[in-house]
Amino acid sequence: MAALTLKTDIGRLFGEVTIPGDKSISHRSVMFGSVAHGVTTVTNFLKGDDCLSTISCFRKLGVRIEESNDQLRIFGNGFEGLTEPNELLDVGNSGTTIRLLMGILAGRPFFSSLIGDESIGKRPMTRVTNPLSNMGAKIDGRHNGSYTPLSIRGGHLESINYTLPVASAQVKSALILAGLQADGVSQIIEPAETRDHTERMIRRFGGKIEKDNKVITVKGGQKLTAASIHVPGDISSAAFFLVAGAIISGSEIHLKNVGLNSTRTGIIEVLQKMGADLEIHENHDNKFEPTGDLIIKSSSLKGTIIEGDLIPKLIDEVPIIALMATQAEGDTIIKDAEELKVKETNRIDTVVQELKKLGASIEATKDGMVIHGKSKLHGGVVSSHGDHRIGMMLAVAALLSKEEVLLEKPEAISVSYPNFFEHLNNLIQ
Ligand code: S3P
Repeated sequence: MAALTLKTDIGRLFGEVTIPGDKSISHRSVMFGSVAHGVTTVTNFLKGDDCLSTISCFRKLGVRIEESNDQLRIFGNGFEGLTEPNELLDVGNSGTTIRLLMGILAGRPFFSSLIGDESIGKRPMTRVTNPLSNMGAKIDGRHNGSYTPLSIRGGHLESINYTLPVASAQVKSALILAGLQADGVSQIIEPAETRDHTERMIRRFGGKIEKDNKVITVKGGQKLTAASIHVPGDISSAAFFLVAGAIISGSEIHLKNVGLNSTRTGIIEVLQKMGADLEIHENHDNKFEPTGDLIIKSSSLKGTIIEGDLIPKLIDEVPIIALMATQAEGDTIIKDAEELKVKETNRIDTVVQELKKLGASIEATKDGMVIHGKSKLHGGVVSSHGDHRIGMMLAVAALLSKEEVLLEKPEAISVSYPNFFEHLNNLIQ
């Protein structure tokens, strides 16, 4: 697609946005619906490219999935109902699809091959292939099973007792999904708490999983039963409007239906630490995943330090937090965030490179970045580098510029937020 001319030189943002379904929860609803027994219904499913890749892979594994508007009906026949695919399983751009799927396929007695796009081909897979091989799966791929294309022949699995070398919900979830199919009891220990949507899904589908601080215990051989899932709005998508509302003077944005799971709300902690004018109205009737409505108003912000156990709770929000920091007084330091280097792009490099083009004062460090506020942003030609969150961050940055901003590779945004520009344009005054 040709470069897109972004909206610039706006007055303010005002109005309401209903945030689309959570990407992580949408993926898991298809996966758990596929390995449970019975018909699972999913409402407010995110029809972004990544979640559509998950649907396509499970169809190739023999699962009937019906789609209508934002609803799904998934006809699951248990783990044992999955069948050997005749075609390659193409995960597109989706790290969650490939890593969680490997955990499921590890226990299935058949052969599959997994491929993805250019970005997936650079993302490290040994973090899942090593422990799954230790459990008994036969996995191969480029560079000794490190990168796609990957092949997997699953089968009988032994339980595992494993301390994750990195805080990763994708790796944790892959091992939980394998553990559900293994002999005996598996224990997975996290270095820091990561998003717990997999654990919540297991309970929702009638299974058992225990969590004691950072130790997760799951028993193999459990039978899961179909459930009805309503996917809450994605706080990682809401983050773009939270920051836009905070940094564009005179703005007020009401965000409806936002997931407020405490393993994901690092962005809210940062907004509060930086002095944003944010109201939170929690819903009290949601036991599956906490949700609420948020109101953000423009405010004067101050720099902060973001580090340690907070990082996994906002890992996908770092690009938009970096933009927010360019509009805060003083320095913002982001550290302990080396994982950013292995996301859809190396997000330390892409954030620093692209924000500099618009006039930000920002430097990469070995495990994060330092942003010096407050900068006046100007026009330029920027690129998403094929990374949805970089694209959306740049679209928000452009709103602050008086001159033209062109965005290359804007199509990446449909990975997680196909109607992002429609929602943004509706707010512009
Ligand atoms: C995800 C976990 C995170 C996150 C990704 C989605 C998930 O990755 O960055 O966008 O759905 O489990 P890691 O667990 O690898 O950090």
